Amino acid sequence: MLTLGFETSCDETACAIVRDGRTVLSNAIATQTELHEGYGGVVPEIAGRAHVERIIPVMRKAVADAGVSLKDIDAVAVGHRPGLIGSLLVGVSAAKAAALALGVPLVGVDHVQAHLVAGTLDTDEDPPMPALGLVVSGGHTAMYLVPSLVEAQRLGSTRDDAVGEAYDKAATILGLQYPGGPRLDALAQDPAADSYAVEFPVSRLEDGALDFSFSGLKTAMLYAVRGVPVRKGRPGPPPPPPLTEQRVRDLAASFQRAACHAVMLKMGRALEALSDSGVECKTILAGGGVTANSRLRKELTSLASERNLELRLPKMAYCLDNAAMISGLGGRRLMAGLHDDLTLRAHPSSDIPSYAVL
Ligand code: KG4
Ligand code: ZN
Repeated sequence: MLTLGFETSCDETACAIVRDGRTVLSNAIATQTELHEGYGGVVPEIAGRAHVERIIPVMRKAVADAGVSLKDIDAVAVGHRPGLIGSLLVGVSAAKAAALALGVPLVGVDHVQAHLVAGTLDTDEDPPMPALGLVVSGGHTAMYLVPSLVEAQRLGSTRDDAVGEAYDKAATILGLQYPGGPRLDALAQDPAADSYAVEFPVSRLEDGALDFSFSGLKTAMLYAVRGVPVRKGRPGPPPPPPLTEQRVRDLAASFQRAACHAVMLKMGRALEALSDSGVECKTILAGGGVTANSRLRKELTSLASERNLELRLPKMAYCLDNAAMISGLGGRRLMAGLHDDLTLRAHPSSDIPSYAVL
């Protein structure tokens, strides 16, 4: 069963063909980084227009790379929520046109839920369920209870910035080019970098909270680089140390330690809270751009081995936004009897239900 999937939720125009929800035959992607880097973030209007220009060439590339013909396609999947509405509409329109022209079912997929199955692509066996799911990206930071690969219930999510957004902003403060997350990670891995040089805050929130918060960490980076603001009537704080190359490496490594610690702390809490309520997770499913992070990958690997859990981390090509994960989840949904019709709409927000741990 071949699924052709479209992904246009943000700034990547992507199309992929996946067999049986699992085996990736092609994964074509046209990134727009160069169009947005001068603005320090994604400009929705520019993103939408670029998707329109690129979607058909990217689809043709996906079909050619897979070595199949459009006539061989059995279903069309599309990430229809959440995301930038003008961007989502391009993918949804292309997917509807393809499904109608090919006479095959159309399957709408939640982009965030698709990140959760990215680690099952190109594998031979499905992991044991239920799983604790983690999505960490530039737009999302949340944990999920995943009863099966086509279901998800949200346990907690960020109350302010997503972790990838905090990475990108911290990187900008350090003078690194956008998107700075991978650049900050590279600096943090330098053997000369000291991850204990600066004691950045690790947000815990209230006892037992399963939400995240990264805005305090971002502000702490700002103060560490530019100095703490002077308060009226108080003596001025000492100026921050000069931003030498060594200081930049140390700040990057210290930020990375605090950011990863904050994520892992909540993962530990979630496993315990679920276990206390009688749900024993057997697997960790992680996805999203920040699962490409070197330290987070190591810490997730340690957590899984300490707790005797299976870990499904996506291959690097499936961490960042891609259409293989959309085709993967779309194929799985169709095999589970779930599909949509041509009335499918694009939505800026996710509708994954929340799960209250008792
Ligand atoms: O999943 P994704 O492509 O897009 C969203 O759905 O947001 O994730 C992009 C995010 C960006 O914030 C980027 O800086 C971050 O993932 N990212 C990283 C790394 N690679 C990508 N953050 C930290 N370390 C990395 N190695
Ligand atoms: Zn994403």
